[in-house]
Amino acid sequence: MSANSIVLTHIDKLYGVELENSQIRKGSAMSEMNVIDDAWLYIQSGKIHSWGSMSELPERSCTHYDVKGGSVLPAWCDSHTHIVYHQSREAEFVMRVKGISYEEIARNGGGILNSALKLREADYEELFDQAHNRLQEVIGYGTGAIEIKSGYGLSYESELKMLRVIQGLKLVSPIPIKASFLGAHAVPTEYKQHRDDYIKLITDRMLPQIADEGLADYMDVFCDEGFFTPDETSVLLEAGARFGLKPKIHANELAISGGVQIGVRHQALSVDHLERIGDEEISVLQNSTTMPTLLPGTAFFLNIPYAPARKMIDSGLPVALATDYNPGSTPSGRMPLILSLACLKMKMLPEEAVHAATINGAYAMELEDTLGSICPGKLAQLIITKPMPSLAFLPYAYGSDLIDRVLLQGKFF
Ligand code: NIG
Ligand code: FE
Repeated sequence: MSANSIVLTHIDKLYGVELENSQIRKGSAMSEMNVIDDAWLYIQSGKIHSWGSMSELPERSCTHYDVKGGSVLPAWCDSHTHIVYHQSREAEFVMRVKGISYEEIARNGGGILNSALKLREADYEELFDQAHNRLQEVIGYGTGAIEIKSGYGLSYESELKMLRVIQGLKLVSPIPIKASFLGAHAVPTEYKQHRDDYIKLITDRMLPQIADEGLADYMDVFCDEGFFTPDETSVLLEAGARFGLKPKIHANELAISGGVQIGVRHQALSVDHLERIGDEEISVLQNSTTMPTLLPGTAFFLNIPYAPARKMIDSGLPVALATDYNPGSTPSGRMPLILSLACLKMKMLPEEAVHAATINGAYAMELEDTLGSICPGKLAQLIITKPMPSLAFLPYAYGSDLIDRVLLQGKFF
């Protein structure tokens, strides 16, 4: 009997199976879901081994776990979060309830700058503990891989502190973590009159140290109105590339910012947000390997337009879905809610939403060879649901907790 081997039995529906190492799903293929009815699934040494129908369950001398009519899905791959932060920002939430806009709050020193002030006061341990709690929380919602950004430090010391926290999380985390350096999240108050000096601080001091310590996998920039211009973004992405960091950027959340074009020109792994895009951005994405990543939790929480997912998919594009979990624009890491919003507000079909939240999210973290579908040899990061009548029930029952168990490399979390 091999260690860490288990057979799941009586699976009502086994979703997301692929015999070959799967590619991303785009266009019409996003809605084509592979399903096995009344199935068993064999996990060997923490990896997917094989599956079949319960009518032909082979004898095996390992643990059997009866999922009792629940369904099994690949775990979520949440490719965009900011879970390292110090303290919440519900005072700004109340300001927005009273009618003050997110942009106005940011212009007056709230928003990202508010989080930067708070974070500078916190030491490594405090930040680590809070982020670790959030990591545990989201695994409970079924997240099996996650990307985490810096960007609330905005100084040499604090950006490094954030990235070291992410590094520390990588060491203890039961799920893969990718780190993005987002020093260019906002221009800090002390550089408002000479923003070029802040960009130089990022390119000439922060990046060499980050590369030296191996603290980041990707380079992120908030390329949007009131934050960083396309030209500044280009300079920053070129500097990141010199240190081996691929771009994954924030673009077109607040305005048609030129961010999609800049991201694609720099071969970004993903361009994220895209609440404000038109035909030109869609056609630029069609000729690229960049994953458009949509964050409907942000549109919901900030009451801004949703990204045009339907139009994008109908144009043949892939899309990924992620939470954007952060204290300002989306204080939630609950992926099932993101799927509900994707269906209800962006007219994505449940099957499309599942592919966007699994294999396409895995691609946006360069994890598509090991995660994102139920494929022989991939890691057994799995969600076991409570019994549900169909896949559509998952986004439909938006307030119900339908995650029964989460398996990480074949072990119960
Ligand atoms: O992805 N858009 C930029 N950054 C974050 C929010 C930052 C904040 O408000 O703290 C986002 O929405
Ligand atoms: Fe974000």
